Order: sequence, then structure tokens, then C-alpha cells
Amino acid sequence: MILNPSEHDVRNVYKLMVGVIVPRPIAFVSTISLKGIRNLAPFSFFTGISANPPTVCFSPMIRSSDGNRKDTLNNIEATGEFVINVVSEQIAVPMNICSIEFPPDVDEFRESGLTPVESDLVKPPRVKESLVNMECKLVQVVHVSPKPLGGSLVIGEILRFHIRDDLFNDYRIDPDKLHPIGRMAGSTYIRTTDRFDLIRPKAGELKSP
Ligand SMILES: Cc1cc2nc3c(=O)[nH]c(=O)nc-3n(C[C@H](O)[C@H](O)[C@H](O)COP(=O)(O)O)c2cc1C
Repeated sequence: MILNPSEHDVRNVYKLMVGVIVPRPIAFVSTISLKGIRNLAPFSFFTGISANPPTVCFSPMIRSSDGNRKDTLNNIEATGEFVINVVSEQIAVPMNICSIEFPPDVDEFRESGLTPVESDLVKPPRVKESLVNMECKLVQVVHVSPKPLGGSLVIGEILRFHIRDDLFNDYRIDPDKLHPIGRMAGSTYIRTTDRFDLIRPKAGELKSP
């Protein structure tokens, strides 16, 4: 079938996107407001975009419920700082609690029971239970659309990694210790326990058909 997004309800277009852009890693983002309220929220429109300098991006969308911006975006634009905490299966439940639309004056560390640890270089705390944290400074926000379910791209440079020692071996991260999870559509998540290797061919190695 052929489907032109402009002819369909935006909620269905969103459903389609989260069904085909899969699996998605999850940035569990900690921020702090100008009033000092700590915020935590998961974002699966997330990826890395540069290693030099190390740069990541994620996308908070405009709430479809009330047309408002997410607290995470407001906090980052106000302070220029955030931490991305990697989501292992062990913290899936508290991560999910942080996707509740709490008002901006609610401390989501307290609501989720996760432990805030002071960051070294930025004000937002990192999540102690997360096995890898990335302290980031804001590089740029690209506002793509202010409409409901419109998104902004938050681009940030990683200033410091915190990695639990036993995960790290010559810059390789052991996935059997990290237990990362990813998001599919709706309430479905994935583990990474069914993996396979595919050696990348070099030019000239392919036989002509
Ligand atoms: C696993 C997961 C991934 C999510 N990914 C996104 C996302 O990429 N963009 C987005 O706007 N909301 C996403 N959400 C919803 C936000 O987490 C939710 O709107 C949250 O309340 C935002 O919190 P804040 O207002 O404190 O920033 C996701 C929720 C879950 C559970």
C-alpha cells in the first residue's frame, strides 16, 4: 500500500512511525529546572550523531493531551544541561513511571524511587541505578514543529561518561552486563539477548552475481 502522511490523522502517523522505526534505544534524561526541581523522562526518538566531538540527540514532542512542551525541553533550554542515563532492564519499571505527565514542580527522582547522584560537570543529577551516564551540555535545539506531536531536536555534547567498571573492556561495553532494553510500538520493549554477527565485507571481496 501507499500512504501519504498528510492525508492521515497525526496520531496514526505517529503510530506508523513508532512501528517502523524499531527498535529504538531509550535516552533516560535527567534535567533540573531554574527553581531546582529535578526531572526525569524517557525518550526513544534518540541517537548518536557524532563521535568527534561526541554528540547525541533526542526529540521531545509537543504533548498531544494539552499542546504543551515537555518539562525536559523547558529545563534544557533554561539551563543548557542534561544527563542521559542508559536504561537497563533492571530500571525499566521506574523509567516507565517517569513517563507519567507529572506537573513541572514534581521531583521525578522521588516519584520513581531512583537515586540522584551529583554530576561532576553539569547541574542535573545522574541516576545511580543506571550503569552508564553521559553528562551533556546543550549544543543546539532545532524546533521542527510547534503542533501537537511536533518535535524539537535537542543536540548535546557528551562531556563525561560514567561507566560501571565491570562493563568496560578496552572501550567495549559488555551487553550481557548492561542488559539494555529498547522500545517497540505501544507498551512493547525488547531485550538484546538474540544477537548475531555479520562481518562487514571489504571492497573487492564480493563475487559478481
Ligand atoms: C520508553 C518511552 C519512550 C518515550 N519516548 C518519547 C520520545 O521520544 N519523545 C517524546 O516526546 N516523548 C516520549 N515518551 C513520553 C515522555 O517520556 C513523557 O511525555 C514524559 O511525561 C515527558 O516528561 P517531561 O514533561 O517531564 O519532560 C516516551 C515514553 C516512554 C515510556
